[in-house]
Amino acid sequence: MRKIKIAPSILSADFARAGQEIEQITKDGADVLHLDVMDGSFVKNISFGPKFIQEVRPYSKATFDAHLMIVNPWNYIKQFANAGADIITVHYEACGDKLKETLLAIKDLGVKCGAVINPDTPVEKIENVIEYCDMLLLMSVYPGFGGQKFIPDVLPKIAEARKLIDSTGKDIDLEIDGGITKENVRLVKDAGANVIVAGSTIFNQIDRAKIIRELREI
Ligand code: DX5
Ligand code: ZN
Repeated sequence: MRKIKIAPSILSADFARAGQEIEQITKDGADVLHLDVMDGSFVKNISFGPKFIQEVRPYSKATFDAHLMIVNPWNYIKQFANAGADIITVHYEACGDKLKETLLAIKDLGVKCGAVINPDTPVEKIENVIEYCDMLLLMSVYPGFGGQKFIPDVLPKIAEARKLIDSTGKDIDLEIDGGITKENVRLVKDAGANVIVAGSTIFNQIDRAKIIRELREI
């Protein structure tokens, strides 16, 4: 059985109390902290940058997973590495034919790397870079906002991506991001995802340890 990792998205946390929120969600069982970086250009929303990540880094020993939803990500990967990201993921849609070199540049900084694709981007677009990835991230909503509805059309893509990963013989994580709830988490796990991002589903609950446990065990 593949180990399931639960990755709360900090986008849905209380930013005024970010350090405490991150400390508490780690105690509540988060394996990974999913950090959504938005620039108002690649997506129609602005969240936070490397300074925020650097300042909350001391509050948790969990894996810091920086999901860059920004244009020209190669200009900023060093700042995110220095801020304490353990893994940096970049969008195929932002990198185009610079995806491979961007992934390799992240690795050169001593940080794990991953490719991300939007719901309407086929898995075959990242086939040529899968061997360089520590993780593949499939979006199950169009990026930009927390609290959107899961797009079920991505389920066959999860299965396809898991096959692609298995064909490499490497231990590459498959992360799913967007609209994950208690109702659909079983479906995404069965399809082959093992890193489960959840923002609103976790942070809207009073008992976050319980919802993290449920998302892990369902
Ligand atoms: C969307 C972000 C997601 C989002 C997830 O652009 O990449 O990580 O915060 O939030 P929920 O789980 O509420 O869909
Ligand atoms: Zn995300």
